[in-house]
Amino acid sequence: MKAYLLTKTGKPEVLKISNIDKPTPREDEVLIRSEAIGINYAEILSRKGQYQWAPDKPYIPGMEAYGEVIALGSKVTTHKVGDKVICGGQFGSYGEFFCTKEWLAFPGIQGFSAEENAALLVNFMTAWVALVKLGRLNEGEQILIHAGAGGVGSAAIKLGNAMGCKVYATAGSDEKVKLMKELGADIPINYRTQDFVKVLNGHGVESVDFVLEVVGGEVFKKSINLLHPFGRLVVAGYASIPYKKWNPFTWWPTWRDAPKAQIMDMAKKSIGIFATHIGYLTGREQVAKQVVREMYDFVAEHKLKPLVGKTFAFDQMAEAHAYMESRKSVGKIIVKF
Ligand SMILES: NC(=O)c1ccc[n+]([C@@H]2O[C@H](COP(=O)([O-])OP(=O)(O)OC[C@H]3O[C@@H](n4cnc5c(N)ncnc54)[C@H](OP(=O)(O)O)[C@@H]3O)[C@@H](O)[C@H]2O)c1
Repeated sequence: MKAYLLTKTGKPEVLKISNIDKPTPREDEVLIRSEAIGINYAEILSRKGQYQWAPDKPYIPGMEAYGEVIALGSKVTTHKVGDKVICGGQFGSYGEFFCTKEWLAFPGIQGFSAEENAALLVNFMTAWVALVKLGRLNEGEQILIHAGAGGVGSAAIKLGNAMGCKVYATAGSDEKVKLMKELGADIPINYRTQDFVKVLNGHGVESVDFVLEVVGGEVFKKSINLLHPFGRLVVAGYASIPYKKWNPFTWWPTWRDAPKAQIMDMAKKSIGIFATHIGYLTGREQVAKQVVREMYDFVAEHKLKPLVGKTFAFDQMAEAHAYMESRKSVGKIIVKF
């Protein structure tokens, strides 16, 4: 099969198609023929050698895909050949075929395109875990979403809106501000041209109940200060952290800018700081199934759909990565067969 086998880290051009053997499902796995692959920021970090959960090279990157089940392991009981499924995993989806444990293959959603099905799992699960499982949002609460025009951010705006929260969101351009407004943000902010705290204060918002933080550095510090008592902040990423293990010049700024929690300060303000990495769900069957079920039900009840920003062809993986890295991308980037 054709797949992107990562043999060295570096710029997007290191992503090259190889011809390798089609995988064979183990007894508890399904094999799918992919129709669309969802691209994630973690895969950019992984390609650059900055992702701590990446396996040893060579490996096929990619955490999610949508496609048709074409073969079953001997002990698989929950799927049949021909099922359309959304699959998750820590790596392995950047290929024509993808093997995953049967319980990590969830039913495709009828009425969603192949792209929308491939865009759902990682982004909506991350936003769901942050907003609901850790943030425990209540209707009417005020929430701030950073990188609000991106894959996770746009999912969080949609979910927060559907939960009846007041949604404030930041992003890095006026086009993204317009989009966040369309997605349902009550106060969308271009943080490159305006200080997001001042903008919120200008709207009479002195503090918020919840922040979804994926940037790090000053954004993290300012966001902590925005929380009012019983406020919750969930760290789901740190896109601005420059850490490169092999480059000592990045070690000090990384230490300085990495989000840190001071328990005494948290106690003084009575706030909660949480962090999540949904990759842990790939090793927790019961928890994962429960969380996916809750998220699926909510998405169906509120008729939500992921925002697909741009679709690339399978041989354009390097372009897809470069585009996401350019920070011009909005919503989910998809690679489609
Ligand atoms: N914890 C988890 O399990 C989990 C799962 C999925 C994703 N994530 C994290 O969630 C974040 C969003 O992921 P995504 O896949 O949906 O990507 P994305 O939001 O579609 O793209 C990343 C965005 O991050 C923003 N950003 C802010 N500062 C940045 C910087 N210094 N360098 C690069 N980008 C910067 C950019 O938007 P602006 O320029 O508009 O700010 C950029 O478009 C990432 O940090 C990712 O690692 C975490």
